[in-house]
Amino acid sequence: MKQFEERIAVVTGAGSGIGRELAVACAERGMKLILADVDVDGLSATQDLIPSNVAVRTRQCDVSSVEAVQDLANFAFGEFGNVHLLFNNAGVAALGPVWSATPEDWKWVLGVNLLGVAYGIQSFLPRMMAAGQDGHIVNTSSGAGLTAVAGSGVYCASKHAVVALSEVLLKDLENAGSKLKVNVLCPSLVKTAIADSDRHRPAHLASANPNSAPFDRRVRAGMQASAVSAADVARITMQAICDDDFYILPHPAVRLRVEERLRDIIGDHRHHEPDNIITTTDGP
Ligand SMILES: NC(=O)c1ccc[n+]([C@@H]2O[C@H](COP(=O)([O-])OP(=O)(O)OC[C@H]3O[C@@H](n4cnc5c(N)ncnc54)[C@H](O)[C@@H]3O)[C@@H](O)[C@H]2O)c1
Repeated sequence: MKQFEERIAVVTGAGSGIGRELAVACAERGMKLILADVDVDGLSATQDLIPSNVAVRTRQCDVSSVEAVQDLANFAFGEFGNVHLLFNNAGVAALGPVWSATPEDWKWVLGVNLLGVAYGIQSFLPRMMAAGQDGHIVNTSSGAGLTAVAGSGVYCASKHAVVALSEVLLKDLENAGSKLKVNVLCPSLVKTAIADSDRHRPAHLASANPNSAPFDRRVRAGMQASAVSAADVARITMQAICDDDFYILPHPAVRLRVEERLRDIIGDHRHHEPDNIITTTDGP
């Protein structure tokens, strides 16, 4: 997709972090915006960053609810009549060893990170396809969606599923002869509010992994050390949409880990010593 001006973007999780910067980047390219989040204060803070001449609508939406995402799609098409760029970006993290993850950790994280993406696809794609135009669906996964990160079993499972879902979506769209394209965004650690994901955790899913503390500390430290900002991720993502690069890996360290994983999978154990690759602590 090369043309952004006057076209319509929908961003979930737009009230903070990467979603906020994606919204700003789309506005800078002349797009009209539908911004969604559970956090209405976060949405207004994002809206305050957008120039007043840009058409923006905000909508509270819990992406783990299919009804809420369908309502968001109806709202978006009702307001602007079309959608060209859909960012299924909202996400949360729960950490700790797999064996002490709670049923509530699984329900919450898979509900937001995986079902949120699935519901976005189900609610928006048929109308985007029917319009017969070009456009992109950008699903936010993670470096943890391509590799295994200790203490992130639930999160990794959700993000690996987003990669798989995106890969299949690409094939399904090609099969259907659609002009729509897909990207899957796989950053490593970026300084955002994701380490405080619990702030929006529903009360009925509050029971969390009791052994998350050391992993929380590691992620927070890694985020502080990260040289890649949410704005960098947004800029790299917009370029990847332009270039139609399916996998978006803003951190070089993720490429290295993917290579190592693929060697393990195919049984190629030649030692690979990378030059000039700065690795950061793994995490969301
Ligand atoms: N920050 C990182 O290090 C990192 C790394 C890789 C991937 N990611 C992914 O990037 C995406 C954005 O996260 P971020 O780092 O900007 O975190 P963030 O916490 O700053 O932003 C996430 C946003 O999602 C919203 N949200 C949470 N639950 C929601 C729900 N049920 N429905 C709608 N919105 C909801 C939050 O209110 C928040 O505004 C997530 O999918 C995350 O998994 C983040």
